This record gives sequence, C-alpha cells and structure tokens, in this order.
Amino acid sequence: MNDNAIGVFDSGLGGLTAVKELCEIMPGENIVYFGDTSRVPYGTRSRETILRYSKQDLNFLSSFNIKAALVACGTISSVALDSIKDDYDFPIIGVIDSAAAAAVSCTENGKIGVIGTPATVKSGAYETRIKQMLKDAVTLACPCPLFVPLVENGHIDPSDPLVRHAVELYLEPIVRFGADTVILGCTHYPIIARAISEYLGQGIRLVNSGREAARTLCSLLSEKDMRCGRKQGKCSYYVSDSTENFENIGGVFMCRPICGDVHNIDIEKY
Ligand code: DGL
Repeated sequence: MNDNAIGVFDSGLGGLTAVKELCEIMPGENIVYFGDTSRVPYGTRSRETILRYSKQDLNFLSSFNIKAALVACGTISSVALDSIKDDYDFPIIGVIDSAAAAAVSCTENGKIGVIGTPATVKSGAYETRIKQMLKDAVTLACPCPLFVPLVENGHIDPSDPLVRHAVELYLEPIVRFGADTVILGCTHYPIIARAISEYLGQGIRLVNSGREAARTLCSLLSEKDMRCGRKQGKCSYYVSDSTENFENIGGVFMCRPICGDVHNIDIEKY
C-alpha cells in the first residue's frame, strides 16, 4: 500500500486523456498533473529541446511525494523517456509499449496506422515496438502537426471546418493504406476522436494511447502492492501558462469542471 500521488504530465491538455482513465479505474488515487501549456507543442521541436523540457517537467513532479509517473505524451515517450527515466527513483512509464500491444491484439489484417506528432513519427518508436511484437505487421506512420494546436485552442468539434480539413489532409494516406487499426499516438488526439472516427469509418479501431498507458500503470501498481486504500482521491493540476484556457477546454474533455485546483507555475525554475 502506498498513499503517495501519481504524477502525470504532458506538453498541454492531451495528458488529460490518461488522467480521465486513471480516475475511472483507480478513483482512490491522488493525481498531480502538469501540462506545459506555455511551451506546447513539443512535437515540432528538436530532440535536445524535448529532452530539456521533459527533465524540467519530471523535476517539477519530483517536488511532490510521487510513487510513480505516467508520461502521458507520445512525443516525450518516444524521444526522451529512455534517456531520462533512470535519473528518478520512482517508476516512470510512457505510452508507446501499451498502445503498440493494444494495436497488435486488435488488428486482423496486420495493417496498423500510427498518427502522431512529427517528432514521434520521426523516432519510429511505435513501428519498432509493433514489429517486435508482430513481425508480419505492416505499419504506416503519418505526422499530424496541426492537431495539437487545434485541440489546445478548442477546435474539437467534428463539424468545425478547421478540424475536418486537417483530418482529411492527414488521414487520407491511412485510408488508402487500408489499416484496420490506428494508434492515436499523441495523447491530444482522443479529444478529436469523433472527427477522426467519422472520417476513417466505423470499421477502423482506434487505440487511445493515454488510456492504454493508464491501464498498464494500474496493473503495475497492483502487482507491486502500491495502490492506496483511499476511497476517493483528488486531482491537482499545474500549468505553465494561464489557468483559464486549461480549465475551459480541460473541463469539457474531462466531462466535469476542473476549476479550483488549477495552479500556474514557472517551469523554467526546475
Ligand atoms: N500530447 C503530446 C503527445 O502525445 C503532444 C506533443 C506536442 O506538444 O506536440 O505527443
């Protein structure tokens, strides 16, 4: 049993897709969330910058009593996690392995699409993992650089012309490729999953990488007897830019208000 909090972080709002799942499957846990909203997006930046930002994010979370951290960001998980995870004395899990495993168990035709930020796609992390698990799998990875700014600015409705245009632009190659399973390789993308699903068609399964990672973390904590005994935990949110936008869009996404416990911090101090 361990009553310390779970730390979760992302470049912005996307990691809430993992928080939502964690709250559902482990309602007793306290969660400390950090969204680096003043420096989002990460996915169009260099490896060096992503590494520096990721270390600062983890240093900030380390200032709490954290029992484990979930990197609820495809970009950090694929570009930086391997280089920094041993610097901390708590387990840190990313989103790549569990999403790849879920896609491998879903696919019937062996064709798996991956959509993510330019940095995630460039890393090849999802394809490498998928191939290790299913050697005959064929993958197509497509970068979708405008999805994160659209979500961060509240363009999430499937009928929004900007959303529709971006979805058509980025997903047309995935349709032509014939994937039966598509990994939402960036944790922001489930927020526009309806638009993505409507364009791809109902037969195509979408893998929510934040949700899969949350489930993996839950299993890990159970195995290590690190779950807490509380009935109802609480979530505290920290952002590096204004709290207002995060409260508004995050609340819509979480299907409940997240105001009240959202704080602004200076991430450059960490
Ligand atoms: N949610 C992040 C991810 O999963 C977005 C990265 C970004 O800020 O570009 O990749």
